[in-house]
Amino acid sequence: MAYNLLKGKRGIITGALDANSIAWKVAEKAHEEGATFVLTNAPIAMRMGEIKKLAEQTGSEIVPADATNVDELTTLFTRSQEILGGKIDFVLHSIGMSVNIRKNIPYTESNYEYFMKGIDVSAMSFHKMLAVAKKLDAISEWGSVVALTYMAAQRTYPFYTDMADIKAMLESIARSFGYHYGLDKKVRINTVSQSPTKTTAGTGIKGFGDFYDYANAIAPLGNASAEDCANYCITLFSDLTRMVTMQNLFHDGGYSTTGVSNEVMQKLGVE
Ligand code: NAI
Repeated sequence: MAYNLLKGKRGIITGALDANSIAWKVAEKAHEEGATFVLTNAPIAMRMGEIKKLAEQTGSEIVPADATNVDELTTLFTRSQEILGGKIDFVLHSIGMSVNIRKNIPYTESNYEYFMKGIDVSAMSFHKMLAVAKKLDAISEWGSVVALTYMAAQRTYPFYTDMADIKAMLESIARSFGYHYGLDKKVRINTVSQSPTKTTAGTGIKGFGDFYDYANAIAPLGNASAEDCANYCITLFSDLTRMVTMQNLFHDGGYSTTGVSNEVMQKLGVE
């Protein structure tokens, strides 16, 4: 059911790679809720062609941009305002990639070139995006920016390797930039810490399937789906959450505050 929560709002949605992507669901929901938006992804992801289907489905234009490239981000924010006819009201940062994870390199043996690449793509890109938007004054007052993160920023998950440190940086950027952008232009910046989700980025992590089941067995509500995550993002883009900023918001069915569950105890053979 749609509530017209984003009626008249203009947005930029990054990271929709295929129908499993969290960003894909956010785009579908934002469309249902009355928003108009530009879709963007790295030029290499564009070649896969899937994003064009989403653009057709939601009546959106695509502006390719490598999120590590300030010039391309400048074009993205400039073109998006032209296409949509005004300042941007909401931005989704849904970008994550670790070469160390892709290559199955253990955390203690991290390759530093890959580590730097991971930082640039998955965390610094958020700073760059915000800095470009602020310089261009491209986001309207009370606009809302959301980036997706994972709880490995607070607690250790050995298989999440360098992405744990990178997500900690991402969350810190939301707080640091959130202060400055909030003070100057009342722009809100938050991170949503999402349950394990079966996407290209998610399933690329070693042992993801078992871990997904483990988290599902801990969380009293079970794992939050990509669609649930999209719904939560929509509320954060809406005017109903206008005083929420600089927060890391857990969206995980209660996982992050559950010590252990009966289900897991039973699996361990404890009565
Ligand atoms: P996904 O693989 O569908 O999305 C990742 C996106 O990042 C892709 O669209 C990819 O093309 C884009 N990307 C990579 N390098 C880029 C670059 N240089 N410039 C622009 N875009 C680039 O996977 P998913 O899961 O939807 O990931 C979205 C976000 O959600 C990521 O930040 C991820 O870390 C986060 N997240 C995912 C969880 C999961 O279990 N899947 C759990 C918690 C957070």
